[in-house]
Amino acid sequence: MGPACAFIVLMFFLISPSICASHASDSITTNQSISGKQKLISVGGNFVLGFFTKDESSAKFYIGIWYKKVSELTPVWVANRATPVSDTTKSLLHISPDGNLALLDQSINSLVWSTNATISSNSSTVAVLLDNGNLVLRDADNSSNIFWQSIENPTHTWLSGGKIALNKITGVSQRLISWKNSEDPAPGLFSLEIKKDGQYQIQWNMSKSYWTTGLWDGRAFTKVPEMTSGYMCDYTYVNNSEENYFSYTLKDNSTISRLIMDVKGQIKMLIWEEVNQKWIQFWSEPEAQCEVTAFCGPFGSCNEQTLQKCSCVKGFNQKSPKDWGLGDYSGGCVRNKRLHCGANNNSASFSEQDKFFQMSSVRLPDLGQALQVSSDHECMLACLNNCSCTAYAYGAGCTVWYGDLLNLQEQYEGLDGGTLFIRLAASELPSHHKIGSVSGLVAGVVAAVVVVVAVVVFILSVTIRRRRRRAFRLVNGALVVFRYSDLQRVTKNFSHKLGSGSFGSVFKGVLLDSTAIAVKKLEGLRQGEKQFRAEVSTLGTIQHVNLVPLRGFCVEGTKRLLVFDYMPNGSLDSHLFHSNDNVLDWSARYRIALGIARGLEYLHEKCRECIIHCDIKPENILLDAEFNPKVADFGLAKLLGREFSHVLTSMRGTIGYLAPEWILGLAITPKADVYSFGMMLLEIISGKRNAKWSENGSHYFPVEAAMKVNENMAHCLLDERLEGNANMEEVNTSSRVACWCIQDMENQRPTMGMVVQMLEGLVEVTVPPISVFLQGLVIDPEDQSHNLEIPASCYSS
Ligand SMILES: *[C@@H]1O[C@H](CO)[C@@H](O)[C@H](O)[C@H]1NC(C)=O
Ligand SMILES: *[C@@H]1O[C@H](CO)[C@@H](O)[C@H](O)[C@H]1NC(C)=O
Ligand SMILES: *[C@@H]1O[C@H](CO)[C@@H](O)[C@H](O)[C@H]1NC(C)=O
Ligand SMILES: *[C@@H]1O[C@H](CO)[C@@H](O)[C@H](O)[C@H]1NC(C)=O
Ligand SMILES: *[C@@H]1O[C@H](CO)[C@@H](O)[C@H](O)[C@H]1NC(C)=O
Ligand SMILES: *[C@@H]1O[C@H](CO)[C@@H](O)[C@H](O)[C@H]1NC(C)=O
Ligand SMILES: *[C@@H]1O[C@H](CO)[C@@H](O)[C@H](O)[C@H]1NC(C)=O
Ligand SMILES: *[C@@H]1O[C@H](CO)[C@@H](O)[C@H](O)[C@H]1NC(C)=O
Ligand SMILES: *[C@@H]1O[C@H](CO)[C@@H](O)[C@H](O)[C@H]1NC(C)=O
Repeated sequence: MGPACAFIVLMFFLISPSICASHASDSITTNQSISGKQKLISVGGNFVLGFFTKDESSAKFYIGIWYKKVSELTPVWVANRATPVSDTTKSLLHISPDGNLALLDQSINSLVWSTNATISSNSSTVAVLLDNGNLVLRDADNSSNIFWQSIENPTHTWLSGGKIALNKITGVSQRLISWKNSEDPAPGLFSLEIKKDGQYQIQWNMSKSYWTTGLWDGRAFTKVPEMTSGYMCDYTYVNNSEENYFSYTLKDNSTISRLIMDVKGQIKMLIWEEVNQKWIQFWSEPEAQCEVTAFCGPFGSCNEQTLQKCSCVKGFNQKSPKDWGLGDYSGGCVRNKRLHCGANNNSASFSEQDKFFQMSSVRLPDLGQALQVSSDHECMLACLNNCSCTAYAYGAGCTVWYGDLLNLQEQYEGLDGGTLFIRLAASELPSHHKIGSVSGLVAGVVAAVVVVVAVVVFILSVTIRRRRRRAFRLVNGALVVFRYSDLQRVTKNFSHKLGSGSFGSVFKGVLLDSTAIAVKKLEGLRQGEKQFRAEVSTLGTIQHVNLVPLRGFCVEGTKRLLVFDYMPNGSLDSHLFHSNDNVLDWSARYRIALGIARGLEYLHEKCRECIIHCDIKPENILLDAEFNPKVADFGLAKLLGREFSHVLTSMRGTIGYLAPEWILGLAITPKADVYSFGMMLLEIISGKRNAKWSENGSHYFPVEAAMKVNENMAHCLLDERLEGNANMEEVNTSSRVACWCIQDMENQRPTMGMVVQMLEGLVEVTVPPISVFLQGLVIDPEDQSHNLEIPASCYSS
């Protein structure tokens, strides 16, 4: 009892105000509280809890959690987001008698906020701020008995490890809700939640959905394919009888990153850039600001081409310039001058009838009503004659709008665009008879100003786009996004060419930390930037010791480059066919064959999404410093799409590795790679190209090989340069494996998994039959008459 008491007294002493400033605790227990400038600091020093305000001039304070190591005050959670307190010294965050954590405003003696949880414990409770930013209310004696936690009651930030779930039992869904504006944490109009069908959606005013992630396909959300686990994040998707949610965790916990439902109606992933002391955005959805429902409010107009996306339509002004300044445009715009229609007719100033202002190339507002009239004049009259009509359009028919206009967008190219006529007081529009030389001059000046503004806006938007691209440079899942200029520098302006393989040339480069890299300049790629990024991010997640690791990429304008680890020993073909002095010994060859098989097995069977390589040949097998094989160029078929077949079939010598079903134009499965692997395995054994074309007749080694293997004379196939120095059992096994792999019928070929087992000696390999197709197949590689269209399975998942 004694020591326990002393401990409690000591604790009490420690958190008493005078000492607290320097010795912050990470928890609040019974009889303790937070008030004034007191704070909790998590054990590792990552997060702080206390009173904050983003608007120093206001007397509005909130209990929140923010980053201790980020110089810009960045709350990730707010307790009393809609009910600020005005005096922090008279406010108390404490454990209330019922065991909940509660915020008390003593100046008005009222409960401002409470965790409001059901406390099922007889002992006292404690609130602890954890180092991942989670505030937990739990049993003081049993830390696994948690009653409430902030990570399950998020405000606008989705922290690593947190979840936004749908509770299937209670039907309650958690939501991220945007702040009202950049200074006011009160709930704004935009929210993110998971729907019953398991996809996330962003809604406006909890009613209108304007963006979804698409359904979960087992691997990613269909509309955000770039969100797949990589070096940076792990993603999990849970759907059981109790709940359905998605969750992410950062792998590197030294990166400070957060996902927020922003005041501008977009979800954004931000990363803290320590060097520049600011948050940079590297991902956001929906990408286009004007896709956000009612973003510019009533009579506001959105324009993607301008810096500040929102403006008021002619004749209107910002309802609240202060809110607009804080990034909250939802109040929209109000009329400068009252309409004639519906106004008090006694006043002379309203004597003239309302007019219409024409706006071309706009996305028409929501909720128009169709009218059955036969001309644009009648449409105009119909609108003019009803005082609640605010606009009309006459395109395919007459459409009129009553009341507020929402979702108007200017400089709009979409199919649902058109010309809108907005009703204004007559005095807002110039009368025709006034136009003379003076107004001509005015028009000239106005035009000049417009041009200048347009140029400025253009320059700004280019700068912003640049900045966005730069911001993206940091990370993209697993990969580094390089700038083209950086790659130019590290490759000394692409001076050291390693080779020109399929789909482009490869150059050597050395990064600042002296890592050697190989930079592949892709040619003939017509893919859009977004799709390219998505595909490449998927490739970045594929890692295996026998696959060449993708380090990063560059996408700028039409330029598409991939950055790989540099492989000092070049490609397999140079060691098999070209060098006579340094012949690869048998054990190295066997190890290489097995490694390639393992790499392919991984691509076919172990990746989340099966990848058919479609271009297995010695040129695409690279060797590292220890002569470990690494399969290169996987996934390029998919990346290049239809261009792939064009490049592939115009590559000399590739045809000998193509499976019969491909040449016959049938569907392609991973067994096509097995076929190519078999062909290549024969070349590894013999050290010769399978096909030799000469004037004295063509020689096709696989036919000979199949016969020799069938006669149990595989040893005859061995490269003569080895002078019989080989494990003959391995030569026998690998020859049989090769001949099984090149069977005509794909169902007779083993899978890569089986090939691995056979080469490892775990499975006995029987004598394979001789393929029929092989014997009839003599294709001159120079003959381009074969139209080998790329099979869809090579590039579509
Ligand atoms: C809280 O204070 C009361 C009275 O001051 C005391 O009886 C009680 O033991 C204290 N509880 C804790 C957990 O310190
Ligand atoms: C507390 O929770 C109860 C239901 O558990 C609910 O009816 C009540 O409105 C909540 N109070 C507050 C202040 O959230
Ligand atoms: C609390 O105490 C009562 C009576 O001592 C006991 O019946 C009950 O099981 C206890 N509840 C918990 C959660 O420990
Ligand atoms: C602690 O709480 C958990 C969760 O409520 C419970 O399963 C466990 O039995 C408790 N442990 C003890 C020692 O009371
Ligand atoms: C979640 O699981 C239920 C049944 O357990 C199933 O009906 C539903 O389709 C699943 N939803 C998703 C998004 O996978
Ligand atoms: C949001 O919806 C509520 C009704 O659900 C409505 O009263 C309110 O006016 C709407 N807000 C806006 C900005 O339209
Ligand atoms: C990061 O995580 C590791 C292990 O999970 C842990 O030991 C380390 O303290 C963490 N670092 C930070 C800054 O949270
Ligand atoms: C004002 O006069 C117009 C016709 O000039 C009429 O349509 C409108 O109803 C009048 N408004 C009122 C409020 O009397
Ligand atoms: C104007 O249009 C509104 C909406 O359709 C309708 O409710 C109202 O009756 C109309 N007013 C007149 C004067 O036609």
